[in-house]
Amino acid sequence: MAELLRHPNTMKKIQDEIDRVVGRTRKVEENDLNNMPYLQATVKEIMRLHPALQMLLPRNAMEGTEFMGYLVPKNTQIFVNAWAIRRDPAAWPDPLSFKPERFLDSDIDNKGQHFQLIPFGSGRRSCLGMTLGHRMVSLGLAGLLQTFDWKLADGANPEALDMREMMGLTLLKKVPLKKSSSSMNVWEATLFNRAKRKLHEISAGAR
Ligand code: HEM
Repeated sequence: MAELLRHPNTMKKIQDEIDRVVGRTRKVEENDLNNMPYLQATVKEIMRLHPALQMLLPRNAMEGTEFMGYLVPKNTQIFVNAWAIRRDPAAWPDPLSFKPERFLDSDIDNKGQHFQLIPFGSGRRSCLGMTLGHRMVSLGLAGLLQTFDWKLADGANPEALDMREMMGLTLLKKVPLKKSSSSMNVWEATLFNRAKRKLHEISAGAR
C-alpha cells in the first residue's frame, strides 16, 4: 500500500484494469487474476522490493563444500540475503525504482526458478504456501483497490513518505503507514444499500 500511495499512477492503472476485466457489479474473484497482467506485475514488483522474509529461512551445510570460491565448512549456518539480491544492479536495471512495467514483457516469475526474484525461497525448503500466499496478496490488494480510492492521511505528501524498513522475523515498515480511504465504488455502495434495505425489511417483518 505504501508503494501504491507513493505511485498513484500505478494504483490508477490497477483500478482501470479491474474496471475493464471485472467491472463494478461484482467483486474480483480468483479466476479473474490471470486476466490482470498489470496487477500481477505490481505484486511481483512489491515482492521484489519488499520481501516478507529478507533472509529467507536459515540453512545448515550438511557437509563441507566449496561454493563460488568460498569454503563452507560442515554445519555452517547459511543465510541467503534475498533482500540484497533483489536490489542488485547486476541483476536488475534501475533496481531501487518501483516499476511494475519491468515485469510486463518478462518471463521472470517468483516460483523459485529465477534466482533474482525469490520471495518464496527456492528448492526443497521453499514456501509450502506459495500459491495460497501469492493469491491472497493479489486478491486482497485487488479487493482494496476495487472498493476504495486510497490516499495518505492528513494530506501528507506521497514523495516524502518514510519508506525505511526494520528487520524483524519478517520485514517491517519502520514508520507505520497512515492512510485513509476516500470513496466507495459504485458496486459497494449498491451492495451496502441493498443490505440496508434487506435488514429494514427483515426487522419490519419481525415487528
Ligand atoms: C505472501 C505470503 C508468503 C510469503 C512471501 C512467504 C515466504 C516464505 C519464504 C521466503 C520462506 C522460506 C523459503 C526458503 O528459505 O527457501 C517460506 C517458508 C515457508 N512458508 Fe511461506 N510465505 C508466504 C505465505 C505462506 C502461507 C500462506 C503458508 C501456509 C499456508 C506458508 C507456509 C510456509 C512454510 C510451512 C514454510 C517452511 C518450509 C520449509 O522449511 O520446508 N507460507 N515462506
